[in-house]
Amino acid sequence: MAKHIINKSPVLIVGANGTIGHSLVTAFKTAEKTVCLTTHHRGLVNGHRLFLDLSEDISTWSLPSAQISTAILCAAVTSQEKCRLEPEYSRRVNVVGTIALAKRLVDSGVFVIFFSTNLVFDGKKPFTKANDPVNPQNNYGRQKAEAEAELLKLGNKVSVVRFSKVFSPDMPLSQGWIRDLKAGKEIHPFSDMVMSPIPLAFAVDVLLKVVGKRISGITQVSAEKDISYAEAAMRIARRLGLNEELIKPISYHKSGIEFAPLHTTLDVSRLQSELGMILPDVYETVTECSNIRLN
Ligand SMILES: NC(=O)c1ccc[n+]([C@@H]2O[C@H](COP(=O)([O-])OP(=O)(O)OC[C@H]3O[C@@H](n4cnc5c(N)ncnc54)[C@H](OP(=O)(O)O)[C@@H]3O)[C@@H](O)[C@H]2O)c1
Repeated sequence: MAKHIINKSPVLIVGANGTIGHSLVTAFKTAEKTVCLTTHHRGLVNGHRLFLDLSEDISTWSLPSAQISTAILCAAVTSQEKCRLEPEYSRRVNVVGTIALAKRLVDSGVFVIFFSTNLVFDGKKPFTKANDPVNPQNNYGRQKAEAEAELLKLGNKVSVVRFSKVFSPDMPLSQGWIRDLKAGKEIHPFSDMVMSPIPLAFAVDVLLKVVGKRISGITQVSAEKDISYAEAAMRIARRLGLNEELIKPISYHKSGIEFAPLHTTLDVSRLQSELGMILPDVYETVTECSNIRLN
């Protein structure tokens, strides 16, 4: 990993406690890169971790170090349900605060990396191209689409990385499936909701390359195909030798979820040609969690 990081000036990681933020911190520390971190939990603030709440006015917030060359914006309200139920709060964080922070950073000469999602598209077709028109179908997607459009106006100091599903071995969803199957309980994964998952370690590797090469514009990251959540659960059960008959797929419509795209794959030609990334096997990605030991 360290080989992608040439510049040694500190990197600012905004939202360092989240899934991707936390893994990035570990990766940068392994590469002996100095990191400045932010959190919106006052109780976690210390000498290395500054307070920053994107739902608040950030006009008095100042950069922790003039040497910072890159900022990675991992902070967001990431729950689609929360974005639906709390549209004003989530928009303050995902759009207003994010844009305000990015502008301040770019004005200070900092290269800004912003994470977006396949949900800026409607998912009616697979392998959506980076410059296809956006057509978000829920608040989370709309907020991300609005933020990325404003950020891209800031020029070549901004990189937008659109992820499909980042799959980490200790995800509550897959670990819950495993726990229930081991306990002989039925599970009900969605048969009509799909994902094109990429491993968390792969996502981190992509980001290290984006930082190292200072790639601006839009980079898309997804797997080579979609699989349903039910299929993922089946693969995990099979890998672990668990009873597949306990898997009773249901429709996501029964769960109250407002929207799920038919396709989540993105066109990843830039990822392959400019960053030289080779997509991991989608089944390996979802069964990686079987290597985790449950307590
Ligand atoms: N994971 C995926 O599959 C996926 C897919 C597509 C896009 N993305 C995008 O990638 C980014 C990171 O995702 P993730 O999965 O790592 O998310 P996550 O685990 O939910 O972490 C998001 C982090 O945002 C920070 N945050 C939340 N509210 C905040 C506020 N009001 N002010 C400041 N910080 C706030 C929190 O960090 P602190 O606790 O440190 O404050 C939180 O841990 C997000 O922008 C997400 O939309 C993720």
